[in-house]
Amino acid sequence: MSHARVLGIAGLVVFAAAAVAYAQTTVTPVPDAAPVETAPLEPAAPEHATWGDVQNGQTLAGTCAACHGLDGNSEIPMYPRIAGQSERYIAHQLALFKSGERNDGMAAVMKPFADMLSAQDAHDLGAYFATQKSGAGVADDSIVTSGPYTDMKFYEIGEQLFRGGDPARGIPACMACHGPSGAGNPGPAYPHVGGQHAEYAQQRLELYRAGTTSRTDPRLFNIMATIAKPLTDEEIGSLASYMQGLHPAADDIGVDATAVAAAPAPAAVAAAEADNTEAADADSNVDGSAAPDAAEPPAADAPPAEAPVDAAPATEAEPEDPQG
Ligand code: HEC
Ligand code: HEC
Repeated sequence: MSHARVLGIAGLVVFAAAAVAYAQTTVTPVPDAAPVETAPLEPAAPEHATWGDVQNGQTLAGTCAACHGLDGNSEIPMYPRIAGQSERYIAHQLALFKSGERNDGMAAVMKPFADMLSAQDAHDLGAYFATQKSGAGVADDSIVTSGPYTDMKFYEIGEQLFRGGDPARGIPACMACHGPSGAGNPGPAYPHVGGQHAEYAQQRLELYRAGTTSRTDPRLFNIMATIAKPLTDEEIGSLASYMQGLHPAADDIGVDATAVAAAPAPAAVAAAEADNTEAADADSNVDGSAAPDAAEPPAADAPPAEAPVDAAPATEAEPEDPQG
């Protein structure tokens, strides 16, 4: 693990402010009257659940703190960060642990805790963690010395795939679903992946690549299984490292509104890459003028803008508590 750019104090403050604005724009509380799509997302939880209650979720979250941290920002790499994760995704995964359909990786550690929860508890917990600000880690920028990506920084392999995919191998840009800063999309419950521990993300990607699941409705799993299939170990490791360093400030930096349906051509990716160094440096000097309203998450059915978004990873510092 090597030296990452460390945001200056000014950058940190802006980052914290941006993260708050970001949380406000993305984690909009869902009105009670909103229809609950339990069918595709919660096959394992037929009990009725309405949208979660943040207060009750916070109370229940005490049980989760030992592993995931009080606010969902686990400090231990094998326990995923769930801060800033969407309510529906969390509730769905809890239902899958409880039913035993999600039984790979370290699911056995989670199951007893999921077993204690009603479907409503799962929504309450999801609502609470969705309001928490996700932290980010550091991406590995050591230079690759052999193989197809020789001379690139390790995280750049993942960055290239995350932003542009690899059309030649049928790999879509990850950000088409997970967003330029990895914020995910609460609508279709594409999970938040920005700032996730690399160790956990790598394990998930390897499990998707292996392609087997016990889910009765494997549609969501299969989306990722198809995408992960052609990835090499090096690419998975790099993607995980890149995502670990991804943080929400990226969404506040001039996202071009031009939506594109397809993954950008390799040339476009190369051009974006060329811009990176400069853009990345500019990142630490973002002034507070970035309009939070510009950071609306993409609509469920519209792919996000493809633009030279600077999602420069790597911030050594844990984001400060915006309140203090
Ligand atoms: C003893 C440690 C431990 C406790 C306590 C615990 N978890 Fe977990 N949790 C884990 C582990 C380990 C995983 C990763 C499982 C895997 O490998 O798939 C996980 C995964 C999850 C996931 C899936 C995350 C994702 O990105 O897919 C959610 C959601 C979750 N936990 C919520 C909770 C909630 C809510 C509680 C409290 C009610 C809780 N956990 C308590 C260890 C724990
Ligand atoms: C078409 C939309 C789509 C695209 C494109 C996509 N994903 Fe996903 N991703 C999903 C969905 C849906 C899930 C949840 C699957 C499940 O239920 O297990 C997911 C889950 C994940 C997870 C697990 C998150 C967690 O908390 O457990 C990771 C990591 C991930 N994706 C990384 C990637 C990477 C890296 C790429 C690009 C190579 C990518 N995704 C491209 C839709 C997408």
